Amino acid sequence: MSKNILSIDTVALDEEKRALKIIDQTKLPGTVEILYLTKQEEIYEAIYLLRVRGAPAIGVAAAIGIYLAALEITDTAYDDFYAKFKKAKDYLDSSRPTAVNLSWALKRMEKVVLDHRGAESAVLKELLHDEAVKIRDEDVWVCKSLGEYGLSLIKDGDGILTHCNAGQLATVKYGTALAPVHLGGERGMKFKVFCDETRPLLQGARLSSFEMVSAGMDTTVICDNMASQVMKNGWVKACFVGCDRVAANGDAANKIGTCGVAILAKHYGIPFYVCAPTSTIDMSVKEGKDIVIEERKGEEVTEMWYRERMAPQGVKVFNPAFDVTDHDLIDAIITEYGIVRAPYTEGLIKIFEEKAKQNG
Ligand code: MRU
Repeated sequence: MSKNILSIDTVALDEEKRALKIIDQTKLPGTVEILYLTKQEEIYEAIYLLRVRGAPAIGVAAAIGIYLAALEITDTAYDDFYAKFKKAKDYLDSSRPTAVNLSWALKRMEKVVLDHRGAESAVLKELLHDEAVKIRDEDVWVCKSLGEYGLSLIKDGDGILTHCNAGQLATVKYGTALAPVHLGGERGMKFKVFCDETRPLLQGARLSSFEMVSAGMDTTVICDNMASQVMKNGWVKACFVGCDRVAANGDAANKIGTCGVAILAKHYGIPFYVCAPTSTIDMSVKEGKDIVIEERKGEEVTEMWYRERMAPQGVKVFNPAFDVTDHDLIDAIITEYGIVRAPYTEGLIKIFEEKAKQNG
């Protein structure tokens, strides 16, 4: 019998192989292939091509990736070590622009090196190992805690609509938007989960619905343009989505199409929740319009998944990977330190104060 996808690590450090271990998500749900990556170029490619994807998962992958890059540096003087480390860090950081977890994790790794100015290479490598493992392990607690807050907002049997994949496959365990469903499932609760297929890369059809079926949930995949009908039918009690970067005013960038779901939810009076670990909240960005939105190749729209090209040659294609949902469309932002409601700027500041208090 094949292994349940939920029992396989989404992203991990293989200590023996000294490699980043990931599930190749471009092959799901048809093929479960585990990749062991050691070279920076392979790790960059895996993030860019979405073999590993979802904001928290790419943060963890980058942390492990930069540790592996540090291992490649032959023992040398501190300044030379740092220069080589920084080059590798900037390279990995350029693989995807919108998810702030990527630079958040890499900055945490860089701080380890900067805080130990003058240390020997071997010592720095050991410290970087420990920080990468810590970043990965923390993600499990973060998602679980966030999931408990999310679960407090729904009840057994509810219909839940989600967009893209902000589930376990986007994190180390549980996910963000799907964490309430996974945690409820562990306690015997059943939800009716509607997964938007999520054009053009189909994270909802390929990943969220795979994950939800594997978790034993009543799962329905819908094309993105069916969400309104499902809501009108009264089948959705709440929308839960993840995000890639939340601005200080609560505007949230997430997979393209999320903003449309929020507008529909408002129209039908359905609560719309954004699940955001504090690692995804970027207080240095004032509002959504300042968030850099990744644009991807047109072929993802015109050719990918089709037997033949589905748009005429020469047509222009606009393929933004994310959109920004305005904060006034969001009923609450759920973090690992609590639920934030408008006004968001004040609420998010309080969340970071709570985080500082709990972490000493
Ligand atoms: O392009 P992707 O698949 O990396 O986009 C992922 C999303 O938009 C997720 O909703 C977001 O990263 C949150 S994952 C917990």
